[in-house]
Amino acid sequence: MSPLHVTLTLPEDATDAALRADVLRGLTATPKWLPPKWFYDARGSELFERITELPEYYPTRAEREVLAARSGEIAAASGARTLVELGSGSSEKTRYLIDALPLSAYVPVDVSESALTQAGGALIEERPDLEVHALIADFTAPLALPATPGPRLVAFLGGTIGNLLPVERAGFLASVRALLAPGDGLLLGTDLVKDERVLVRAYDDAAGVTAAFNKNVLAVVDRELGADFDPDAFDHVALWDAEREWIEMRLRSRTAQTVKVPALDLAVDFAAGEELRTEVSAKFRKEGVTGELAAAGLELTHWWTDAEGRFALSLSVVR
Ligand code: SAH
Ligand code: AVI
Repeated sequence: MSPLHVTLTLPEDATDAALRADVLRGLTATPKWLPPKWFYDARGSELFERITELPEYYPTRAEREVLAARSGEIAAASGARTLVELGSGSSEKTRYLIDALPLSAYVPVDVSESALTQAGGALIEERPDLEVHALIADFTAPLALPATPGPRLVAFLGGTIGNLLPVERAGFLASVRALLAPGDGLLLGTDLVKDERVLVRAYDDAAGVTAAFNKNVLAVVDRELGADFDPDAFDHVALWDAEREWIEMRLRSRTAQTVKVPALDLAVDFAAGEELRTEVSAKFRKEGVTGELAAAGLELTHWWTDAEGRFALSLSVVR
């Protein structure tokens, strides 16, 4: 059986320094905000998996439908021997690609160590012929990929690109382009603009799983930085910004309160009703995706959607 290689490119002190810097910057800004990557400790990753099964949360099912229907075409267009997956999480939908591509190596990249080791462990049991090099890394930072056979396909699924702000997306796509050689490709999952009610329901489910996921970022700051956020003192908010075409998740303070963050020697005042932005989830149109890829030097060569046109996969193969 081939071993699972797990490379920690994010030493604990670097992660701690990044969290401190983000919390200091975000909680002293007006309006307050936190970057969404801090949702994903072991509990956050578990809550995200529960979200993917909710009746209201259609993106996972829609993307799975596209992958099930198109993996053969993706394999024919890409011929990849190495699949690099950014923000791989449980790697559940990725199975369609792993089964269709003539792969020697799979390189899942994620900040969530628990998600990576669970997914990687399961995969090497199923596919002992496959080299699995799991990278615990931030995909927005420069990536050092292991030396594995080309061509490479970089997959960024789930619509996670929508969790980056437009300026971050531009930098991110340019750095992905810099990783690619002729014959390599990028497979990008994007959730599409649709009826506002459908979108808001997907981020404010009846069972409250998304609310728990949203509040989990407060539990992470409490545990890692000794803060005294009370998750019950905040309400989950999901709203559609029609101008920017993104869903915004926020946490609204129920009362006027002061939260202490001892590791930063910081006291943060919240007014009653004040909101902290925890995530944007941008929704896309074909023209926008084509333009953003082109700006990074990538040509959209294929565009596939599910039957209802809710979610798209696009492929760019470098000439
Ligand atoms: N691709 C999976 C999981 C999507 S959830 C799917 O489609 O279902 C988003 C994943 O990205 C999580 O596993 C989270 O831990 C990871 N993630 C979020 N921000 C990240 C970052 N900056 N660097 C690396 N991984 C990140
Ligand atoms: C990971 N990402 C694409 C999810 C999304 O839909 O933006 C995260 C999420 N946030 C709330 N629900 C799911």
